[in-house]
Amino acid sequence: MCAAKTLPPGYARLEMALLQTETVVDFDIFIWGDDARPPVLYRNRNLPFLDEHRERLAEMGTSELLTRSQDEKAVARYVERNLDRVIASPTLPLTAKAKILYQSSLQLAQDILESPTAPDSLKRSEDVVRSTIGYVLQGKEAFQQLMSITSYDYYTYTHSVNVCTMGIALAEEVGLRSQTELMEFGIGALFHDVGKTRISPAILRKRGPLTDEEWVLMRRHPEMGIALLDPDAPVSEASRAVILQHHERLDGTGYPGGRKAGDIHPFAKVAGIIDVFDALTTRRSYKDAIGSFPALRLMKAGIGEHFDEEYFRQFVGILGA
Ligand SMILES: [Fe+2]
Repeated sequence: MCAAKTLPPGYARLEMALLQTETVVDFDIFIWGDDARPPVLYRNRNLPFLDEHRERLAEMGTSELLTRSQDEKAVARYVERNLDRVIASPTLPLTAKAKILYQSSLQLAQDILESPTAPDSLKRSEDVVRSTIGYVLQGKEAFQQLMSITSYDYYTYTHSVNVCTMGIALAEEVGLRSQTELMEFGIGALFHDVGKTRISPAILRKRGPLTDEEWVLMRRHPEMGIALLDPDAPVSEASRAVILQHHERLDGTGYPGGRKAGDIHPFAKVAGIIDVFDALTTRRSYKDAIGSFPALRLMKAGIGEHFDEEYFRQFVGILGA
């Protein structure tokens, strides 16, 4: 079996399932060489990949191909561009879809946080969020599958993806059912902590408690996130509300505005629940993760004061808890 073979230096594995027919593939594709022979170039970059190629490879019993390691970014972008087809595939198992979606989302979130104002960030985000919605709407099992591969290590980029994916499921559950609403929520969730890119890593990763000054700065990250967005960028008010209000709490004790229940956007209420849940259930250098049940128990104390009771109940429901 190919999978048991040692990867030749300079090459990376490429699952056949990632290749979509009728697409132009912008990286060279190789097939495994026999025995210890080097990989053989199968298809040059910038050529279309057609049904006949898939069939020929299937006849050869090939399920795994190779690409050059240096083309890793091109492969990732190709997968991202074709994510909607991966998600809609009637043959690909949910496990594979979940993995591909999560990987693509993580890569995108990393890129957004590295260069938040990159001109293509928004377009790429829309594609990935659309696919996430398509995936999550495939049902409870799809959601559980995605949850099972969710990272337990906290980084801003993993957290952004987790808030986006879990948030879309909760948003749908609480009745934000239109594609437009879910898209707006998902974009806001993916960008919700983008303001943290303006805060020094020394503060973000500080092990001990923050000083008053550091805390003041930290609490500005929602506004910094809004400031990073071009005011003319096609980001809706609802998406911006997720960024600005995800730390607001029903009793007015949140930040940055100290808004009370009726003044907090419903999307931000959804994001606020997932934000806290993900922070509790992931591990950082200075703290362990706690399990879903203890996290929910802890959060339950904040119902009515911090979190919307109905939204929280729905969230417990989708976690199957
Ligand atoms: Fe935040």
